[in-house]
Amino acid sequence: MHKIKRVNREKMSVEESRKVIGDNLSFAASEAYKLLRANLDFSLPDSAGCKVIGITSALRGEGKSTTSINIAYTEALTGKKVLLLEADLRLPTIAKRLAVRSVPGISNLLAGQCKGGDILQPSGLIKNLWVVTAGDVPPNPSELLDSKQMGDVLKALSESFDVIFVDLPPITAVSDALVISKLVSGMVVVVRQDYCDRASLAEVVRQLRFAEAKVLGFVMTGSDVMLKSYKSNYRYKRYGYYTSKKYYSKSAYERASDKQRQSNEE
Ligand SMILES: Nc1ncnc2c1ncn2[C@@H]1O[C@H](COP(=O)(O)OP(=O)(O)OP(=O)(O)O)[C@@H](O)[C@H]1O
Ligand SMILES: [Mg+2]
Repeated sequence: MHKIKRVNREKMSVEESRKVIGDNLSFAASEAYKLLRANLDFSLPDSAGCKVIGITSALRGEGKSTTSINIAYTEALTGKKVLLLEADLRLPTIAKRLAVRSVPGISNLLAGQCKGGDILQPSGLIKNLWVVTAGDVPPNPSELLDSKQMGDVLKALSESFDVIFVDLPPITAVSDALVISKLVSGMVVVVRQDYCDRASLAEVVRQLRFAEAKVLGFVMTGSDVMLKSYKSNYRYKRYGYYTSKKYYSKSAYERASDKQRQSNEE
């Protein structure tokens, strides 16, 4: 049984964050991401050209960005040219986690402040994985993401990459992810065990269906299943789901999210 050091989200340094991404992942966790990769390949078997996959969740802090980085890295291991595009314009974290520059990013391009070539940068994890950060936090994220330029930018990027993973905000908080859902091949919904409640998840599925998005599957994070034995560390429970090891405890940030969720329910 592995023990992964607790990671307090608020104080996560670049070094700490590096421990739960890329080739620093435990054997069990990297196997879980490979299963997720296989499931995604089965979910979009014959789509010609670039696959664009959005990663979202019901609530804040369920593991979207971590999942996005790791699935993009795992996909890049196969030799494909992969892009990680950060479209959580309100709470960007990718630049810090990958230790890349935060600006210019997609928001700067959409606001006409830079050129397309300026926003692409190597991820530093593996040579065929590239990253586009969110950029400066804009006053109007939904409008920028819903603009015609966003569609044009994604189309242009699709010509240069085999797969694009889009790290999105949570669905119950803002409409940004739904706005993007019409531009992607499919959506993956991250669900954190013992955190996301049934009503919020049902709402996400309802909204995605309403937006006519293709839900490719659900990724369960923070699962206890992984703690039981080494062998069970990389099994997944059913199609479309994968489990990963619980490697954090609730931070103050996450407790605040719990509170917010409770008050939303009231
Ligand atoms: N598979 C996992 N199992 C356990 N904990 C995880 C997993 N993936 C991510 N985490 C932890 O959950 C916390 C939140 O992760 P992350 O920032 O990826 O979530 P997020 O959904 O992108 O958050 P936000 O909505 O604020 O953008 C971090 O402390 C991270 O280390
Ligand atoms: Mg995030």
